[in-house]
Amino acid sequence: MRNHFEGQPPLEDPHRPQYHFLPPANWMNDPNGLIQWKNQFHLFYQYNPYGAFHGSIHWGHAVSTDLVHWRHLPVALAPTPDGPDKDGCWSGCAIDHNGVPTIFYTGVSPQVQCTATSSDDLLTWQKRLQPVIAAPPPDIREHAGGDLRDPFVWRQDGLWYMLLTSKIEGGGGLVLLYRSADTINWEYLHPLISGDVNQRDPFWTGTIWECPNLIDFGDKQVILVSLQGTPNTFLYVCYFTGEFRQESFTTHSRHILVPTNIFYAPQVMRLDDGRVILFSWILEDRTARSALQAGWSGMMSLPLECSLLEAGKLGLAPVRELQSLRKNHSRFVNLQPNGSFLLLQGQALEILARFEPAPGSAFGLKVRCSPDGQEQTLIICRENQVIIDSERSSLNTDVNRRITSLPVEIEGRINLHIFLDHSILEVFVNDQSYLVSRIYPSRPDSLGIGVFAEGSVNIPQLDVWVLDSIWE
Ligand code: FRU
Repeated sequence: MRNHFEGQPPLEDPHRPQYHFLPPANWMNDPNGLIQWKNQFHLFYQYNPYGAFHGSIHWGHAVSTDLVHWRHLPVALAPTPDGPDKDGCWSGCAIDHNGVPTIFYTGVSPQVQCTATSSDDLLTWQKRLQPVIAAPPPDIREHAGGDLRDPFVWRQDGLWYMLLTSKIEGGGGLVLLYRSADTINWEYLHPLISGDVNQRDPFWTGTIWECPNLIDFGDKQVILVSLQGTPNTFLYVCYFTGEFRQESFTTHSRHILVPTNIFYAPQVMRLDDGRVILFSWILEDRTARSALQAGWSGMMSLPLECSLLEAGKLGLAPVRELQSLRKNHSRFVNLQPNGSFLLLQGQALEILARFEPAPGSAFGLKVRCSPDGQEQTLIICRENQVIIDSERSSLNTDVNRRITSLPVEIEGRINLHIFLDHSILEVFVNDQSYLVSRIYPSRPDSLGIGVFAEGSVNIPQLDVWVLDSIWE
């Protein structure tokens, strides 16, 4: 196999994030096998060592002591010629099985569920030759079109449970439930949740589901799935809040996690301190050709802390460990923008701003602005919405431009917590909701950061930190 560290993208690539995780080069997609093991966090991920495209999928591997700074480790899993994973080691999870690190993943093609164990602290993996689930259950087989993947395993009441995702052709997405006493012999129980391809209200749940996760909040459980439309279009991540009792799930409400199709296939992990942390694949938002030229594609979201809010909604907030990246600090007080002005320059920043608007005002921040405003990306608050407007983010025509919006009750005050890292912009609203966009400004002088308002708004305090790189 080609050396993992060869052919790195040039250091001066202006779009490479500096404080988000991504492999040294090539393609990545989903986070896999997240686990805290002996006081270290392990992050595996879907990785193609042969280029910046989804091809021969391996499991890349990295380790961290704080969720923020990562060290690359050798590739953990590669397809075995003639093995059940000969065409790829697709997504899956990691568990601690009586002290033995154990992973489950999907081998292709056909899609079967495989397992492997490690005896050297997760560095190398011994695969079990035969899949633990070799085919879809009989009642699904004819309708699933071969789709059955992305095992998520947890322990409950002395047994192991597994979720897999699939579909019913013409029906909708499916989450299937399995049970095992020993992690090798799995008994199929039944579909746990099913989608309806014809239902559009409150939103469409697509034709196929992927990457299930179950988060246990005690009284309530949340099941996350990533939704695809036909053929192969990512829709968004959706979650069902309800109760998992006696091997069945009762849905109380369902929601979209992040209103965009560039945030996909997240995975959660429960830390020893009780926090639920989520990482998501963040897709590129430019042509496949640009990614091939750049030599890399895909990155991880920031580590996000999940909480269950009222009305069954999930809150997403940046983990506190990110504060260790803060370097130079600037504070602005009592800004009252009338029109727009620039405050400073930067492309790897954290910005924390409180706004107190008069009713009917539109206001916000702009980032990556060229001096003449030809390139700029806006974060706009108006009419109970927060919007990332990247319509003018780049003069490059190989780049997508979008309006991404989130409904929010503004009512007199709103907090924006913004993380800008070269080509990624993440916005947390009132420490709860999350928006993300990719931006690829073409001009080297598109570095301005500013505020703007139509109507009246007071900004009692606005803090900006330059953030350090996470790499040594
Ligand atoms: C989600 C996904 C998974 C699959 C993996 C393949 O992005 O399609 O369903 O296991 O990616 O790389």
